[in-house]
Amino acid sequence: MIILGINAYHANASAAIVVDGRLVAAVEEERLNRIKYAAGFPAQAIQFCLDQVGAKLKDVDHIAVPRDPWARVGTKLRFALRMPRFALERIRVMKRFAGIREDLAAAFQRDPSEIRAQLHRIEHHAAHMASTFFVSPFDQAAVLSADGLGDFASSMCAIGEGPKMRVLGEVTFPHSLGMYYTALTQYLGFWKFGDEYKVMGLAAYGQPEYLDEFRRIVRADGPLSFRLSLPYFTHQTEGPDMSWREADRTPVLGRIFSPYLEKRLGPARQPGEPLTERHRNVAATMQAALEEVLTSYWKGLAAKSGQRALCLAGGVAFNCVANGKIFDQTPFERVYVQPAAGDAGLSVGAAFAVQHQILGRPREFRMDHAYWGPQFTAEEIRRVIDRIDSSDGVAIEEQQEPELCRITARHIAAGKIVGWFQGAAEWGPRALGNRSILADPRRPEMKDILNRRIKHREIFRPFAPSIVEEAVGDFFEKTHPSPFMTFAYPVRPEKRQEIPAPTHVDGTARLQTVNRSASPLYWKLLRAVGDETRVPVVLNTSFNDNEPIVCRPEEALECFRRTHMDVLVLGNFIVERKHPSPTAEESAERFAQREN
Ligand SMILES: [Fe+2]
Repeated sequence: MIILGINAYHANASAAIVVDGRLVAAVEEERLNRIKYAAGFPAQAIQFCLDQVGAKLKDVDHIAVPRDPWARVGTKLRFALRMPRFALERIRVMKRFAGIREDLAAAFQRDPSEIRAQLHRIEHHAAHMASTFFVSPFDQAAVLSADGLGDFASSMCAIGEGPKMRVLGEVTFPHSLGMYYTALTQYLGFWKFGDEYKVMGLAAYGQPEYLDEFRRIVRADGPLSFRLSLPYFTHQTEGPDMSWREADRTPVLGRIFSPYLEKRLGPARQPGEPLTERHRNVAATMQAALEEVLTSYWKGLAAKSGQRALCLAGGVAFNCVANGKIFDQTPFERVYVQPAAGDAGLSVGAAFAVQHQILGRPREFRMDHAYWGPQFTAEEIRRVIDRIDSSDGVAIEEQQEPELCRITARHIAAGKIVGWFQGAAEWGPRALGNRSILADPRRPEMKDILNRRIKHREIFRPFAPSIVEEAVGDFFEKTHPSPFMTFAYPVRPEKRQEIPAPTHVDGTARLQTVNRSASPLYWKLLRAVGDETRVPVVLNTSFNDNEPIVCRPEEALECFRRTHMDVLVLGNFIVERKHPSPTAEESAERFAQREN
């Protein structure tokens, strides 16, 4: 039984394939077509999924898409009359969905009649909820989906039990925590799709000075609901102007905050303008107000469901700062967040919704690692290594374990910046030790060095640590697993000096806890780093430079050549620059002086 899940005609286009109840492969189109957040039709992702199971399109039994035109059709029609431009855009997308069989056939140059799969339309939030609960370790749990907007709702919650879910409530358009966060992100001068992350990082630098005002903008409204004060926004009158440019398939979202918001909070920051204390305080207040509403929602859900386990999905589930507070502020004791919690994860969710809710099959799969993307053979990697010539100015050695980990650990401990490319690419937006750039977390200057030499991102954005699961309690105030970097925990005050580079200004870090059986090689590397430094932690940032995370070995080599990385570990090959950049030497010297 083959089920193909497809998130298409939307940002974060992706595909996933489930065979006999088990996920076999999942990938975002952006990793393959190299367009960040790529929207449109994920033909390459689908091809990859089919290849992974050795199937052809005609072998697929079910196709699942996370969109249901008939969901909330009354609400959709009502708003369509008020917002004709938005309605036209929706109709365009719906038409595309109606023709998905034809698009599939065209993409694979087949006749539509050859596709015998049954097509299933799964409501957007039902797919989000399925994407987390059905792959979680819990037989029973409360489930919550919260995002910007999907099928005219922004949130849905349920009780999950075995292969079933019972919906407890939903919040419909125009009230939306995702829209709220995006509107304020735009107000603060960050307009690119996906910039919400930046503002969450910025929030730690400010004080929540404007809470009175923000409690007017967004507030809890009963135990399982929240409301926006609509005069602050425009999406309810203009429509959330979400589209993608056909030419380059980059998603774009029009302005959704109103002149009234500027009247109340002062003029919006223009992109590139200096960030002032006021901006930092707005960011802090925006995060604090979100946390207030989420805490109320989570508590309501715990009370209503009677559950102590919680599964989260939807873009809001990426708010690792809020997620880290669940354990202290709500009765929930265990929380699962799927690595692709955003809309990419809908392909997995739609497929599992078919498997369990439509076909009634029992559950037999759990997602305890994120390595569902493309993987390359030793031979393929060797061919890329063979392209390196003397003009690259590097030394190459081939090593097996444990030497591979030991040498890499020594490089990290010596202050080198290491590109680490191993196994299958991660599913979801975080690099989790297979496509990562690694550095020494003990060096306070490492954040600046990484930014200057490789990542070129805003200075206020934190870098994250990976830590062996066994040592989490030694460094952090919480020990609940965070295998997919979806929780931020306070670093123990006495340890903040020990891992300053990934410790954020508020004393927290968005950690990845590394489990020995889920990520064996990465776990061994961290152990080797611990042997070198007595700190089994690395700073882990995604292997890229303002582009989607590298997927293929040749992209890793290109990124290594383009940036000032010191070492590239590509499978079993260690590629080291013979002449490290002066900044690396300087920083190593400064670190040595500080140690003395
Ligand atoms: Fe969504």
